[in-house]
Amino acid sequence: MKSIEWNFTEAKASPFSSIHPYPAKFINEIPATLIKNLWHGQGDFVLDPFCGSGVTLEEAQRRGISSVGIDLNPIACLISRVRTNQLPEAFLNICEAIVKDCQTLDTIIEVPALPNIDHWFKADIQEALAKLKHSIDNYKGTEVYDALLYCFSSIIVKVSNQDSDTRYAFRDKGKTASDVYSYFLLSARKLTKAMMGNPHAEARVLNKNSLKLTSEDLPGKIGLVVTSPPYPNAYEYWLYHKYRMYWLGFNPIQVKNEEIGARAQYFKKSKYEGYDFAIQMSELLSMLYPYCSDDAYLCFVIGRSKIHGEIYCNDKIIAEIGMNAGFRHITTLQREINCKRKSFNLSHARIKDEYIVILQK
Ligand SMILES: C[S@@+](CC[C@H](N)C(=O)[O-])C[C@H]1O[C@@H](n2cnc3c(N)ncnc32)[C@H](O)[C@@H]1O
Repeated sequence: MKSIEWNFTEAKASPFSSIHPYPAKFINEIPATLIKNLWHGQGDFVLDPFCGSGVTLEEAQRRGISSVGIDLNPIACLISRVRTNQLPEAFLNICEAIVKDCQTLDTIIEVPALPNIDHWFKADIQEALAKLKHSIDNYKGTEVYDALLYCFSSIIVKVSNQDSDTRYAFRDKGKTASDVYSYFLLSARKLTKAMMGNPHAEARVLNKNSLKLTSEDLPGKIGLVVTSPPYPNAYEYWLYHKYRMYWLGFNPIQVKNEEIGARAQYFKKSKYEGYDFAIQMSELLSMLYPYCSDDAYLCFVIGRSKIHGEIYCNDKIIAEIGMNAGFRHITTLQREINCKRKSFNLSHARIKDEYIVILQK
């Protein structure tokens, strides 16, 4: 493992990454290389307990290996499901029909009463989004519904008055209702292209708190874990998807309350009550231990946290609590994060390197 060039400077972005934004997603080469080298068929499936946009699941599927992905964030689960499911052939036609319907629909569709909606969305955009969501909801319960929601979710920030995915500042970007429909169709076309030739192996996606995992959630023994856990003062995943969740009918505040790591408490000194990351990871690792097959590898890709000037070595914490939970610490590899490839800026946290901690049962 040490002889591998982990920086992957020449890596090309996955076609999925240009459709729906997701912070701190893996470059495909990381889970791909870990699975290629550490999966020996020793268990039943690959697990990613913080699957985000589902890159680990995609890479397991590419190799015909079953996988389970868990994430608290319903937008993450939506992206992961769409990424690992087949797209029905009629998908693009359905999207075009939906847009046609919206453009000719005379009935007024009620705009949902979302907090601060008039600040973040212009009136004509609100109406277009409400119409689009209404038409998409006619497909609830069908096999295209997730992919439709995914395309809808992918355009929310683009058509809003929010400066960018990571900047909550007001900016009139000059978008109109017709942009809502054209961006939606653009996402649908990109998705159709990205999905072409996707092979099949079961990928199960669970929308829940990984710390509340039970044996019923897992279809057998874990053969390999490949994950990048959330860690303090890095990202607030719920915040990046706040309006996506509102428009899709989810409750971002509920997600915020259970999200590990990047909480407001780390930014404000007065609110900082201590570093609970070690306790949470210790709970997770002790819980995973009995579900892992003998010799199963666990790979945690993680950066270091800087909180009120103090550096917390999350890689060392994981290695230590892993050993306390009964695993062996095989190695910790270091890699540079390619800032040009990072779609979400982490200037406040100054994260330039990350570590790959490898444990084994
Ligand atoms: C670093 S991101 C994972 C990104 C992923 N590797 C990818 O390629 O997209 C960490 C993820 O942990 C999720 N998360 C935070 N707290 C969680 C919890 N208690 N249970 C499950 N997932 C959680 C976040 O929603 C986020 O998607």
